[in-house]
Amino acid sequence: MAGDKFASLIGSERPEATNIVIFGASGDLSKRKLLPALAHMHRWNLLGSHSRIIGVVRSKWTRSHWVNYVHDQLLHYFPEAVMNPPSWRRIADKLDLVVGDLTDPNMYQDLAKALHADGGKTNALYYLAIPPSWYEVVCKNLKDAGLSDESDGFRRIVVEKPFGMDLASAKDLNDKLQTYFDESQIYRIDHYLGKEAVQNLMVFRFANAVLEPLWNRNYIDHIQISVSESLGIGYRAGYYENSGAFRDMIQSHLMQVMALVAMEPPISLDANDVRDEKMKVLRSMREIKPEDVKDIAVRAQYAKGKVGDETVAAYRDEKNVADDSCTETFAAVKFYIDNWRWQGVPFVLRTGKRLPDRVSEICIRFKESPQKLFDLDHDNGRNNELIFRLQPDEGMQLTMTAKQPGLSTELRGVKLDASYGIVGSGMPEAYETLLHDVMLGEAGLFSRADEVEESWAIVAPIMDAWAKETDIATYPAGTLDILGMDALLDECEGGWRDLRLCDDY
Ligand code: NDP
Ligand code: BG6
Repeated sequence: MAGDKFASLIGSERPEATNIVIFGASGDLSKRKLLPALAHMHRWNLLGSHSRIIGVVRSKWTRSHWVNYVHDQLLHYFPEAVMNPPSWRRIADKLDLVVGDLTDPNMYQDLAKALHADGGKTNALYYLAIPPSWYEVVCKNLKDAGLSDESDGFRRIVVEKPFGMDLASAKDLNDKLQTYFDESQIYRIDHYLGKEAVQNLMVFRFANAVLEPLWNRNYIDHIQISVSESLGIGYRAGYYENSGAFRDMIQSHLMQVMALVAMEPPISLDANDVRDEKMKVLRSMREIKPEDVKDIAVRAQYAKGKVGDETVAAYRDEKNVADDSCTETFAAVKFYIDNWRWQGVPFVLRTGKRLPDRVSEICIRFKESPQKLFDLDHDNGRNNELIFRLQPDEGMQLTMTAKQPGLSTELRGVKLDASYGIVGSGMPEAYETLLHDVMLGEAGLFSRADEVEESWAIVAPIMDAWAKETDIATYPAGTLDILGMDALLDECEGGWRDLRLCDDY
């Protein structure tokens, strides 16, 4: 299997047999992410022969309808899973269905029967792939039906984003979930933490002693974390209009990644030891005062433009978006972490939709050497950068300055590249990693209640200030021409990284 995309899954720890219960099995998340991830796991024997995938739907489906539905979705999103008839039959045998309304206690009795169909011990993972307004109803009914009780196997609940829309709603949601489930049973998904390059960040930092002396304010000028998307909002206007880029990406994914970059070495890899260190980072972040928002945060919305060869509509012309919407589709922010290691080092985070390319990366930009022996300019040498590429072409890159071979002392930038293609490893999708971890009971890649609340508290002044604005700057789709973005890096060396796809990627 050498070279196979999933070769790295061989030898992974195999979880105990688990009933994977998908609430919202007929929805988008289920078909695009969960079912393909489970099929991948099945392919590599990580589900165990007695695990089952139990869909919960409200439409009057039969089991055979559910089986055909899964077949059709896999045919589209992971065709290999259904191309081989014996393999597909083994997946189909695992499929079970419970039909009913989320408010109906009888539905949960049917679910209880399905969980205990084999008799004896039964583990259950409840995946809430439903609108957040339904989380409480489902948790309460699970509890009332005795389905949160762990006396005959584990019961774990997986909660999708958005986890609240602000501090108050996040607290409220935490309170509700914790009324029915213990915190140790709750897994809040942030799929960025399941990305291979993000996990590698921890290994890279803490398994390579050579980095530690450099990983601080003495050597690092600033850190950029960028997630650039070329797609627009697609069919998700209903959600996005109330969310915007800042809530959708920065408060969750980018701040979680930032915490991993900035945290101290944990005393162990135990989930709570890692989360304690991330929490310390969040608690050390400099408070944002309302009057500072204009200097540290930038937002904008895409206007009509061209992405690649395609002419695309303005955000306000997307289906179900208000004509006068002030929702931002681009957001950038400069944070400071006021602790010994990071005092004075800007962490600049940016994300946007309808930008030129789909590129995500973490850039650690080091300071210039203290003595300028050589004549460096941007083209023939620049500050050292350590790049963690999240996508595309995941991997790491260290930029250095070297002498151009020849008789004169000409300098040039060179890159030490460790793309995963070169390192030679297969990569599971983020959802596979995360589902696998839930089944194993490993919570390190999931956000704890206090982390979520702390991050909402940090960003509240920005959201409050923006909520009062009645207009928003625009950028032509397919560009990064964003007013005010460069000023965020005024005090930093080197400016923003170019996020257009080029030979570097
Ligand atoms: P969809 O609207 O595509 O699917 C929602 C699912 O919930 C459907 O199965 C739907 O059933 C069911 N549902 C909705 N309302 C009810 C109800 N009143 N009673 C019973 N079932 C109901 O949403 P997504 O799959 O996109 O999202 C699901 C969750 O995952 C949301 O919390 C979302 O924020 C989150 N999420 C989704 C992502 C994605 O890529 N799609 C990414 C990150 C998070 P029916 O088919 O009968 O309408
Ligand atoms: C989701 C956001 O959480 O992450 C989407 O809701 C965004 O708006 C997506 O497009 C990006 O994820 P990825 O893995 O494609 O970078």
